[in-house]
Amino acid sequence: MKPLKIAAITAAALGGLALASYAAVWLLGERIIARKYSVPAISITHSTDAAVIDHGRRMSEVAGCRGCHSADLNGKLFGEARFVYRMTTANLPRLAATYSDEDFARSIRHGVKPNGRSVIGMPSPAFYDMRHEDLSAIISYIRTMPDKGERLPRSETWILGRIEFLQGLYPPEASTIDHNAPQRIYDFSNQLELGEYLARIACSECHGINFEGAPEGPGPGLPPDLTIAAAYPSDAFAHLLRTGEPLGGRDLELMDDVARDRFVHFTDEEVEAIHAFLVDRAMKAAQ
Ligand code: HEC
Ligand code: HEC
Repeated sequence: MKPLKIAAITAAALGGLALASYAAVWLLGERIIARKYSVPAISITHSTDAAVIDHGRRMSEVAGCRGCHSADLNGKLFGEARFVYRMTTANLPRLAATYSDEDFARSIRHGVKPNGRSVIGMPSPAFYDMRHEDLSAIISYIRTMPDKGERLPRSETWILGRIEFLQGLYPPEASTIDHNAPQRIYDFSNQLELGEYLARIACSECHGINFEGAPEGPGPGLPPDLTIAAAYPSDAFAHLLRTGEPLGGRDLELMDDVARDRFVHFTDEEVEAIHAFLVDRAMKAAQ
């Protein structure tokens, strides 16, 4: 055979191989995306009581719903990386037209959509232990918000995102939750438990489910293990949560934004409880 012909055949074979591996990765990724999860029934009802709705608004600030889904909850383009993914947060008032209260609770706590598939990019593991009354208040609040009719592109997971799924990086949230685990009941008369609860729903999304820090973060700086909070006297900690300004006055970028948008909605007692819990956790870790 002439060298040119050999080269042409080799190129065609390699091209075929590349196409076949592309298709294989695509389909294997699709299997992970399309996996169905079954979840125990949840009995929950929303309320039209003004005080409950107001509580739901505040909880949706500290839990970050209003950050990721935008202040009017109508959703936004949350992130996009070529060949990896496009992540659009859901328009919650629009879902309210078709979702039952149980559908909402299943999506929020379990990360499972009505069609049984996992959410992708919604931090449901942080909300698994969310108290019934808080969840119900948030759903009540969503139901008061208007759908402004904006159309957003769908979320997609493209080829490089699917490779990450196959590598086990960023598994779909529902696959990381034990859906039959009993919900932990926190005793709010105990300051440490109140603090742990609030830290779970407000901090673990970035700092890790057990506050051990995250190897990857959504911003330029990585969220550290929260034992660092034990180095903060309580007034400096309160200042950090209210303004995003750390000890030493460094610019914390993302932490800065979440502090000013979300954590200003904590009461002083809640900030003290979070601090007390994080100090206690750091002392136990040091033993
Ligand atoms: C870190 C960003 C982030 C935060 C915080 C967040 N969400 Fe989401 N949420 C998302 C993304 C991304 C999706 C889209 C998931 C998908 O399409 O698979 C989503 C989807 C949803 C859905 C729809 C799931 C479905 O059935 O299709 C609901 C309901 C929802 N979020 C409610 C909430 C509520 C309530 C809160 C606060 C308690 C909240 N989210 C906090 C990012 C976030
Ligand atoms: C949306 C993501 C996000 C959330 C939610 C979040 N953090 Fe952070 N946090 C970060 C990142 C990122 C950094 C690292 C910033 C840097 O070093 O540039 C950080 C840094 C910190 C630091 C270290 C400050 C220092 O001195 O270096 C503390 C303490 C902290 N966060 C506490 C909290 C607490 C408490 C909560 C919950 C009430 C919380 N964070 C929620 C992203 C987040």
